This record gives sequence, structure tokens and C-alpha cells, in this order.
Amino acid sequence: MNIHMLDKYAKSLIKQAAIQIRSSFSEELIIESKSEANDLVTNIDKETEKFFIRHIKSDFPDHRIFGEEGFGDKIDNLDGYVWMLDPIDGTTNFIHFKKNFAISLGIYKDGEGIFGYIYNVMDDDLISAAQGQGAYLNDVRIPMLEKASVEKSIIGVNASWVIPNKFVQHDQMIELMQTARGTRSFGSAAIEIAYVATGRLDAYMSMRLSPWDIAGGMVVAKEVGAIVTTLSNEPINLLKQNSFIVSKPNLHEQLLSKYIILK
Ligand code: IPD
Ligand code: CA
Ligand code: CA
Ligand code: CA
Repeated sequence: MNIHMLDKYAKSLIKQAAIQIRSSFSEELIIESKSEANDLVTNIDKETEKFFIRHIKSDFPDHRIFGEEGFGDKIDNLDGYVWMLDPIDGTTNFIHFKKNFAISLGIYKDGEGIFGYIYNVMDDDLISAAQGQGAYLNDVRIPMLEKASVEKSIIGVNASWVIPNKFVQHDQMIELMQTARGTRSFGSAAIEIAYVATGRLDAYMSMRLSPWDIAGGMVVAKEVGAIVTTLSNEPINLLKQNSFIVSKPNLHEQLLSKYIILK
């Protein structure tokens, strides 16, 4: 299968999975906790991941899958093709709001992002990118990002930033909140990355994200000129959890130098 067909195949799997997720609303959800009480997973997260794995394993037996729910492969290197999948990013939104959740998928080859997808299931918005080919919102090319000042920015952050943490001093956080035009929290890292890529947010930052939360978004972000690093301004390591910032280029520098404690 050539690379163009792989892109079409991935998009088709995503759309099929989304149809199943939407139709699940008529059935009763089975909700469980994972690492702690508020770390939720449902039968639909698990079934969606299994759906992808069943198809990918049958059609691409030598590709590996790194999925949040653990039905894929144990990944300790990025050799060959690796599909990084979050079957539902924003599970809490899925359960409580029935909207604002996404399927997030990155296809990597020898550690390089080849394709990235973020599908906002209820909005029916597919953000996609192919390495070196630009990024698209559905079939419309997304323009390159322009500059932004902190004063005119909307920054994606969640409430955990008000709890004392190692990345920011309380005073600096207050100053950032007072200086920025606004902050928003959408409860799905993938959607927040998609919002930066499409210029709705100017930056999004998180103290800890997993590879499947960000792998698809990183391919998209690169294609529109966004900068993605850890909060220590280091490259992301897709084999482990990282702190994370995606931002318009000049804003990335301003946010890290003025507000974040670089280690
Ligand atoms: C979570 C969401 C959330 C982010 C968490 C993630 P999940 O993913 O992206 O917005 O703050 O760190 O774990 O568990 O809903 O796939
Ligand atoms: Ca989860
Ligand atoms: Ca996630
Ligand atoms: Ca998830």
C-alpha cells in the first residue's frame, strides 16, 4: 500500500470508529476507574482501541500500535511503523457532556511523524496532516500560524495550574492570567492542540501528557509552524510522559522565558 492509500485508510478507520462511538450513546456505558478515582475509562474507549488494533494488525501485520488502553504492543523503541492511538481523548467529557472528545492518532515511521489526525467526533471535524504536505481542517488547508503577543492571547490551561507545582510560581501564574486576554480549558489535550493549530487558541500547555495524547497533534502542529516542546524547552520523547507546550512560535519563547521555570 502506498503512502497516500495509508492516509485514506487511516481516515476511513477513524470515521468508522466514530460512527460506532456515536451509536454507543443509546446503550448503557460501563465506567471504571484506572489509576485513581477520577481517571476514568469506559467500555467504549476499550472497544474503540480494539477496533483499530483488529484492523491494523490484519492489514499491516508488521506495524505496531501504542494505545492508551494497553491492547496494542509494548513499545520501547520507535523502529518501523508505530501507530500512536488515543481511542477517546477526553473520556470525562465523553461521559459527562457527550461532546468535546476526540480520536487522536499519529502514524510514525522510525520516530518521524508521517501522519497526524485529531477527529472531534461530535463536531465532525477532522484535522489531519501529512509530513511536509500541510495540515487540513476537513478538506480546507489550515494557514500557517501568525505571531501573537501574550496580551492578545487565549491560553489553554486546566485548573491544575493553580495547585502549587514545579513549573511555575504562583505569582507568575497570576501575572499570566492577568496579562493574557483569556484562558480556556476544554478537557481534551488533542482538541486543545487542534485549536492551537487552527488559531482558536494561541498556546496550550500541560504538566503531563502521554504519547497518545499528543502524537497526532504534533504532526499537525509542525505543519502549521507551531512550536512543540516540553516545559523545559526540550524535544518531546514519545516513549514516555512529558510536560508539554504547543504554541505560536514567538509566544512559545515569551511564555517559557517569562512565566515558566526552566529546569
Ligand atoms: C486526558 C485529556 C485531558 C488531559 C489529561 C489526559 P484521556 O486524556 O486529554 O484533557 O488533561 O492529561 O490524560 O484520559 O481523556 O484520554
Ligand atoms: Ca484516559
Ligand atoms: Ca488522552
Ligand atoms: Ca483516552
